[in-house]
Amino acid sequence: MAEMKFDLLILGGGPAGYNAAERAAEGGLKTAVFEERALGGVCLNEGCIPTKTLLYSAKILDYAHHGDAYGVTVTGASIDHAKVVARKDKVVKKLVSGVGAKMRGAGVTVVSASARITGKTSSGFTVEADGKTYEGAKILVCTGSEAAMPPIPGLKESYSASFAVTNREILDLTTAPKRLAVIGGGVIGLEMASYFNSIGSEVTVVEMLDKIAGPTEKDISAILQKSYEKRGVKFLLGAKVTAVEGKPGAGVVRYEKDGKTVELPCDLALISVGRRARTAGIGLDAVGVQLNRGAVVTDERGRTSVPGIWAAGDVNGKLMLAHTAYREGEVAVSDMLGKADRVDYRSIPSVIYTNPEVASVGETVESAKAAGIDAAEFTLPLQYSGRYVAENENGDGIVKIVYGKQHREILGVHMIGSYASEIIYGAAAMVAKKQRIEDVEKLVFPHPTVCEAIREAMFHIS
Ligand code: NAI
Repeated sequence: MAEMKFDLLILGGGPAGYNAAERAAEGGLKTAVFEERALGGVCLNEGCIPTKTLLYSAKILDYAHHGDAYGVTVTGASIDHAKVVARKDKVVKKLVSGVGAKMRGAGVTVVSASARITGKTSSGFTVEADGKTYEGAKILVCTGSEAAMPPIPGLKESYSASFAVTNREILDLTTAPKRLAVIGGGVIGLEMASYFNSIGSEVTVVEMLDKIAGPTEKDISAILQKSYEKRGVKFLLGAKVTAVEGKPGAGVVRYEKDGKTVELPCDLALISVGRRARTAGIGLDAVGVQLNRGAVVTDERGRTSVPGIWAAGDVNGKLMLAHTAYREGEVAVSDMLGKADRVDYRSIPSVIYTNPEVASVGETVESAKAAGIDAAEFTLPLQYSGRYVAENENGDGIVKIVYGKQHREILGVHMIGSYASEIIYGAAAMVAKKQRIEDVEKLVFPHPTVCEAIREAMFHIS
């Protein structure tokens, strides 16, 4: 017999789940969120926030090391990795309790237990958690994602022996490895490579493709790689990892490159070869929710194949970004409340929080052309910004504008350089609102700022 009845049951308290819970409660839905680990999900506990905390400490150290170029000599600058990790834990704790307070403030019931959908009723669904049965008229699945573990020989054994670790374990190491092999040169790999390089580890990134940073615009990816190489990070591109062997402090990553098998000795290997949706063991099969390659199939309003069940965030396998998850959760709740809403996937920005930062939104000229749009691009060095020059000795940052040739609408903006992560939302608004080059020329940007380079670029486009 059902013990508790709700309008909405949300599985997972990460960015999609907790944000949707707040919106749903505001909309008058009696809502419960089930979270088996900690509120805030991967983003807050082992992703976005912990990595940014570490990277900020590294940035302070980098500034100290490179102060000479700016007339500031710092001697004896050093980093205490264990202290950095302890501060990270403090930051995470504070923010997790903030999410808890948000839930209490909104009147959302938080159940700290793993939940599973057990069946349908005449008016909704049943969910079991911690031995109790909950009834919900609607369900929102926000169970997120986990590190993908490809079938590489030795990986599983090395993982349990803690030689090969994922984003989860690497954030809690209290001593830095002397030699770190990063398997996969995507976002997680690059952010961690940046941190460990700054604090003195020898870092080698092994990437199967011939460029780093996945879908990042090609010129920006090349500048990023060059800046990492200047700092001493080694890249093995076109190198596919085929085996992992070892224990902490004495391991090897085997990879294939140009038809040859090569061994890379290292003390620790980070597995960052992508993430996969978490759909197992949550009862989706009990009610027949359709999956595609392990991810929940959703439409643009977050509806799944089962009426009454929505899904949002990484579990749908679409963009796997926390800010996408927020928006998807909101749109799902809007749909439940009968409000027209949809996610504009075209204008979702993405950021790599390396130093220099990379931020992008919208099309590259290649993706626009592939979509049948007659597009062109214009690149402006950030040296056109006075503030950039003041703050970056020999900086090689750029901003690239992608626009439609016929209507001169802004299709994409891609940047590498300081503040890019904070600037990109303005560019996302331009893409979302389909602003034209002439519209942006008429906007007034603050001076001196790095974002001015975006406006300046518009005047260079003939
Ligand atoms: P990813 O998909 O970004 O990169 C994985 C890389 O591993 C790819 O470049 C792939 O070619 C390579 N690879 C796969 N198998 C390989 C093999 N056997 N040998 C060598 N290379 C191999 O995945 P990542 O970095 O694990 O990130 C996962 C997700 O987390 C992404 O979807 C990302 O959006 C999200 N994320 C976002 C962040 C941000 O927004 N700043 C930060 C961290 C993660």
